[in-house]
Amino acid sequence: MDKILVHGGRRLRGTVKISGSKNSALPILAATLLTKEPCTISRVPDLSDIHYMLTILSELGCEVERASGMVQIRAEKVKTHAPYDIVRKMRASVCILGPLLGREHRATVSLPGGCVIGDRPIDLHLRGFEALGASVKVSNGNVMILAPKLTGATISLRSTFGSTVLGTGNVMMAAVLADGQTIIDGAAEEPEVVDLANFLIAMGAKIDGAGTRRITIEGVKELHGAKHEVIPDRIEAGTFLVAGAISGDEVTVSRVNPEHLLAVTSPLREAGFHITVNGNKVSVSPGPKRRALKLDTIPYPGFPTDMQAQMCALLATTDGISVVSEHVFPNRFMHVAELKRMGANIDLQGPTAVITGVPKLSGAPVMASDLRASAALVLAGLQADGVTEVNRVYHIDRGYESIDEKLNELGAEIERVKA
Ligand code: UD1
Repeated sequence: MDKILVHGGRRLRGTVKISGSKNSALPILAATLLTKEPCTISRVPDLSDIHYMLTILSELGCEVERASGMVQIRAEKVKTHAPYDIVRKMRASVCILGPLLGREHRATVSLPGGCVIGDRPIDLHLRGFEALGASVKVSNGNVMILAPKLTGATISLRSTFGSTVLGTGNVMMAAVLADGQTIIDGAAEEPEVVDLANFLIAMGAKIDGAGTRRITIEGVKELHGAKHEVIPDRIEAGTFLVAGAISGDEVTVSRVNPEHLLAVTSPLREAGFHITVNGNKVSVSPGPKRRALKLDTIPYPGFPTDMQAQMCALLATTDGISVVSEHVFPNRFMHVAELKRMGANIDLQGPTAVITGVPKLSGAPVMASDLRASAALVLAGLQADGVTEVNRVYHIDRGYESIDEKLNELGAEIERVKA
């Protein structure tokens, strides 16, 4: 297995181009199943999760062509059964359920694996499909969904932890071809949901209210092919801004949507950093004094759970006591034990990490356990004395396009050791 060696203590400076959003691209690629006509998706990041999704689509019978960031897909005929060996590697494979149900009125998909960030049910997705008239059966590790007819309905996707991002996308993708009107109440408001809705609208769907808690969909008879460019990855951009905050003189992320980044740039400002916005570029540079923070992860437009681990890496060396509470995935703290091995002082109290800033971290061999946790360990390594060896790098390659090369271009010293 590849590993990454981070030689700590280098200062970062310069501009990094941000890739297209992984979390937008995955459901958008799945949505191409909704039409027999060809679709062209651009700014698709080169990531292993994207590769898995394209493999799943090919296995389902789609013609898939890829040339750098551009993907062409034609789903003229599709199979409705996705077995375990093709879906097990990625939780987001669950988002083929909605489009298969919408188009073929049936889907059998093995229950997915994915990030180890606690129990990640799909009950809300299934509740949405049932409301549209589908019957759902789970057996032998497969979920089987069948709907002789899909009929619009009012569906609530609220849960104790907020809404569901992929669940909102999934129900939206099934409902665009249902008879009549569907209202999704308690919909996720994330920009990735809006991006998916915009692609579906370009395919001929009638969707109103994406980006708010209430989405209205008027079913249409069929969808057609469309072209779409994926939005910038706000989590990749946020990760580079935190890297810049940790060890940068001035780091700029370019080709971003600054509005999508407010939930990260606001706490960075509060923590004492200078943030400047210039068109589609956002820069971070040190202020006179770093300050501890109180942070709560909440659904968009709140501070994203996908940035929690990286922010913990920053706060680990910020003087004072920071308190970080996780409200979306309460068990998502696997990075804490590893940061402590590097000398961080973090007390985990249920879903809350109490971080007492230390002056320095020290390099150590550490184990990545999920995508964002592994990014946090690389960021921690940037500020540590000596060398940090991040193992199980495949997690990071699921969601960051060449993170080592991009950080090196900014002045970091990171080696990838091939297994
Ligand atoms: C997406 C993102 C992931 C991000 C998460 C929250 C993708 C590919 N992944 O994941 O990076 O961390 O949003 O912003 O887009 N829940 C239920 N029942 C369900 C579904 C979810 O209880 O049927 C709960 C989850 O356990 C969690 C919360 O709802 O506590 C939010 O999960 P959800 O928004 O569904 O996450 P994903 O869409 O899987």
